[in-house]
Amino acid sequence: MRVLITGGTGFIGSHLAQAFLERGDSVLVIDTASTAKVLDFRNNPAYAGRFQYVKGSVLDYTLLDGMMRKADLCYHLAAVVGVEHYVDDPFGVLDVNINGTQNVLRAAFHNDTKVVFSSTSEIYGKSTKVPFKEYEERVLGPTSIDRWCYSTSKAAGEHFAFAYAKFGLPVVILRYFNVYGPKLDKIDRGRVLTIFMGQLLRGEPLTIVNEGRQTRAFTYVDDAIRATMACGLVEQAVGGIFNIGTDRETTILELAKVMLKEFGKNPEDPKNIVFKKQEEVYGKSYQDIDRRVPDVTRMKTILNVQPQISLEEGVHKTCEWFKRTENFREPYAAAALEKK
Ligand SMILES: NC(=O)c1ccc[n+]([C@@H]2O[C@H](COP(=O)([O-])OP(=O)(O)OC[C@H]3O[C@@H](n4cnc5c(N)ncnc54)[C@H](O)[C@@H]3O)[C@@H](O)[C@H]2O)c1
Repeated sequence: MRVLITGGTGFIGSHLAQAFLERGDSVLVIDTASTAKVLDFRNNPAYAGRFQYVKGSVLDYTLLDGMMRKADLCYHLAAVVGVEHYVDDPFGVLDVNINGTQNVLRAAFHNDTKVVFSSTSEIYGKSTKVPFKEYEERVLGPTSIDRWCYSTSKAAGEHFAFAYAKFGLPVVILRYFNVYGPKLDKIDRGRVLTIFMGQLLRGEPLTIVNEGRQTRAFTYVDDAIRATMACGLVEQAVGGIFNIGTDRETTILELAKVMLKEFGKNPEDPKNIVFKKQEEVYGKSYQDIDRRVPDVTRMKTILNVQPQISLEEGVHKTCEWFKRTENFREPYAAAALEKK
């Protein structure tokens, strides 16, 4: 099978590319970013001739159309992701996530290629009806608060996907819940785990927003990848929406404690954690979500995927990777690319 992955040098995209390569498929990737996350298998002789990377944007329809022509299945993962972007660059978020998605769907329709669209748990917004079920109401804040632009952009993408489905395009929508693992991001970037990671690697205390009682369902990347692959491969998934996550609800404070232990620090020592007000960290244009937990019944029953990696095991694997790759950040990525 020939698989096209937009955003394929990103965190989830690079793991997904590797999983399909391991299965014996051919993988074609389009991304605007550097290839740092795919370097470790790009030159793997076992994958020889089956991996192709094109540096380009999903905003370039002609390029996409040409790549789609060569694909049997498309995973659309390219997106502007990260809290810092929702607040600092709402235009970029809306442009890439809506117009880019529209381009992907149009090219897929033109070439009759199935599309799996990666949406997000952010879709549910401030809904308090946890665990979130795929076909329930969404509750969002006002459009004057920039942080909602990401949720809105992904919802528009889902609507476009369903609109194309009405024309006959096979589409599957998946909504990830806090996927993490090796290669997650540069340290110190917008996701809680990489922010903690940067602080731990420098020996600083962890910064917790408010009291750290907010909850998330941290999903280890290997579990997410098995579910993601199933979305493209299981026939009954077509036309459906799937939460991709775990049942385990974890507070941010609990995550901080698990990570502190991984770095050999006493999680009960008040010197190891600093509590900050949300506005101090994100400014006024941010609203946090108290509880974000998926109902994963559809993932388990239709996709037949059960989460297997516990938070402790996943955090251990992730911390080990970041310790080994301590300087994993953009300058490193660029330098690594130049060396090749
Ligand atoms: N990781 C999570 O927990 C999570 C949660 C919810 C949703 N998602 C979704 O999953 C997908 C992958 O997320 P990720 O965590 O791997 O993030 P990521 O930022 O690592 O991956 C996104 C990739 O898209 C690329 N990209 C951005 N603009 C592009 C453009 N115009 N053209 C081509 N490529 C472009 C980026 O360079 C990046 O490599 C995204 O669509 C994201 O919205 C992820």
